[in-house]
Amino acid sequence: MLIKRRRGWEIAESAATAEAVFHGRRRLVKALAAGPLLLGVAGALARAATAMADEADPSAGLYPAKQNPKYTVKLPLTPEEIATKYNNFYEYGSHKEIARAAQELKVRPWTVKIDGMVEKPMEVGIDDLLKAMPLEERVYRLRCVEAWSMKVPWSGFPMKALVDYAKPLSSARYVEMFTFVDTKMAPGQRSFWYPWPYNEGLTIAEATNELAFMVTGLYGKPVPKQNGAPLRLAVPWKYGFKSAKSLVRFTFTDKRPKSFWEQLQGSEYGFWANVNPQVPHPRWSQAMETDIGTQEKIPTLLFNGYAEYVADIYKGLEKERLWA
Ligand code: MTE
Repeated sequence: MLIKRRRGWEIAESAATAEAVFHGRRRLVKALAAGPLLLGVAGALARAATAMADEADPSAGLYPAKQNPKYTVKLPLTPEEIATKYNNFYEYGSHKEIARAAQELKVRPWTVKIDGMVEKPMEVGIDDLLKAMPLEERVYRLRCVEAWSMKVPWSGFPMKALVDYAKPLSSARYVEMFTFVDTKMAPGQRSFWYPWPYNEGLTIAEATNELAFMVTGLYGKPVPKQNGAPLRLAVPWKYGFKSAKSLVRFTFTDKRPKSFWEQLQGSEYGFWANVNPQVPHPRWSQAMETDIGTQEKIPTLLFNGYAEYVADIYKGLEKERLWA
């Protein structure tokens, strides 16, 4: 008999909904309690309503998505508290504790633009896109170029579904992705020495590989702002910097995109960035990594353990800098 066991981090659909409602209610109660002293009841109500409208995520009811058992990892998963508090998101600072600052990110309305070498350029609202895409949950490893790693349950949809939706021309060879630009909402973007917006690129073969995943959720809930809400990439066989966050635009092109990090430091960060323990970063070894959940040092695997899915893509490309 098949028994569905609930994993430690996993919450039931009813609990997820209850949680959203619970927080909403708590905010309302809090605002009401503080309100009369400051503003009067009417003001407090208006303030609470605005706060709730700002923060309520209309996609919350879509999670948890159905787990795809094909994509899983050896447990334990990284605790949610760690994966959502230890982040790289330079739009909010060049250190790891950006979770609080990232709450300034406004994720609705959110429009995604698809352009370049496609049958018909288009713009689509994130909630319409979510309706059109097949949502599922996958547990993936993420290996950062800085030699730390985590194992998390992403929700989202295969990037191939987005490519099919976009209808690229047969002459398109790459897809370039861009993060939003808004210096008011993202103070890190006021640092003029970075080449904003954050951008990344994949070949069409990579983007349509079964592992390439567009993330919209994490731990059975909408993906938190600090982890790249409302739409980010997960390409687990590549270093984490390829998995660009908070995407607003996908451009199909026949020219190889030069990514944010490649523009900044091309000698250290290239286009391919596939994980390889035997090819050191110019300033450190990539042989081992620290699991941010357990703090254990573990050996890094070729293609981060995903060689069986992706190695074929790179046949005939051995002259390329595949590992940087
Ligand atoms: N995307 C944007 N827009 N800005 C960033 O600074 N950092 C990248 C990637 N995507 C980054 C980004 C890096 S270096 C890593 S390792 C991962 O996001 C980290 O994802 P996480 O914070 O969800 O662990």
